[in-house]
Amino acid sequence: MLDTLEISVKKVEKSRIEEVDFNNIPFGRIYSDHMFIADYKDGEWTDLRIQPYENLSLAPASSVIHYGQSVFEGLKAYKTKSGQTTIFRPMANASRLNKSAERMCIPEVPEELFMQALEKLLKIDSAWIPNQNGNSLYIRPFIFAMDDYIGIKPSDTYRFMIITCPVGSYYSEPVKVKIESVYTRAAKGGTGFAKAAGNYAGALYPARLAQKQGYHQLLWTDAKQHKYIEESGTMNIMFVINDTLITPEIGSTILNGITRNSVVTLARDWGMQVEERKVSVDEIIQAAKDGTLQEAFGAGTAATIAHIKLIGHEGVDYTLPAIEERKFSNKVLKALDAIKSGESEDKFGWLHM
Ligand code: COI
Repeated sequence: MLDTLEISVKKVEKSRIEEVDFNNIPFGRIYSDHMFIADYKDGEWTDLRIQPYENLSLAPASSVIHYGQSVFEGLKAYKTKSGQTTIFRPMANASRLNKSAERMCIPEVPEELFMQALEKLLKIDSAWIPNQNGNSLYIRPFIFAMDDYIGIKPSDTYRFMIITCPVGSYYSEPVKVKIESVYTRAAKGGTGFAKAAGNYAGALYPARLAQKQGYHQLLWTDAKQHKYIEESGTMNIMFVINDTLITPEIGSTILNGITRNSVVTLARDWGMQVEERKVSVDEIIQAAKDGTLQEAFGAGTAATIAHIKLIGHEGVDYTLPAIEERKFSNKVLKALDAIKSGESEDKFGWLHM
């Protein structure tokens, strides 16, 4: 455990919070008053500071711009009924950030630095944490390469930052997804398990093609044969077939999702059959055809649970059961919301107060 770190603070002269309509918050467009910054040079994180949210100044040759040496995280803070701030499983994000960082040759951020920076920032911007049902403060920690050098090598200098934004729901409606059979999000041995910036950029074009066909997102399949389902858009994917929760097992091509883990943990705790294994396209299509596919949903921090209403495959659209009939995903979403808002017992110690 590190001693309390020295984090300097420069506050805004005037908060922007009064400009925000907390009853109508778009995802990811409005940022809180302050941000955290630390700079990595000569092998250590230095100059820890909280300052007003503002634009950055970067050298045009900064390696992050050219080569994408950058990783990020996403987590959320909530207000309980009594007004206390809670953060959902932040240590899991700190640890995953460092796993992503290692894969991208980025230096680790000590977990204590991550936590102290986060706690101090949230204390200062506490008023920005929404207390309306379903809303939260989305927290985006990220690290990027700062060297003013256009040659290709791991940067010597980096910046670690945390920005936050009050958010409502990520998707305004249940989503239509298409099973991708041409493009690939991640290959074995690649960076798919990491929250590396480039993974998300590479996914944009195939997603855009699907959007032109009327789908919202893709169901990504394995790079080799496009036979196994891996993720859904930017989320983990889950199915309920014959009352069993089925989700692809974690591996080098699949993000070790914290929401995924929370959903699986709750399901097992409720005595539900859970299978973490390879999930073939064929079995999902067969289950959709014979009516045993009861539910399909994405699980991720931004959306928590994103119900899938339709799956497209080889030109055929399969409509899934009505959202109101979906017992498990509705129950798990409610249960997660109740834990996060402090309304039900935090049996697994997920809340950081
Ligand atoms: C998340 O759900 O945590 C994500 O990473 C989504 C983000 C790309 C908006």
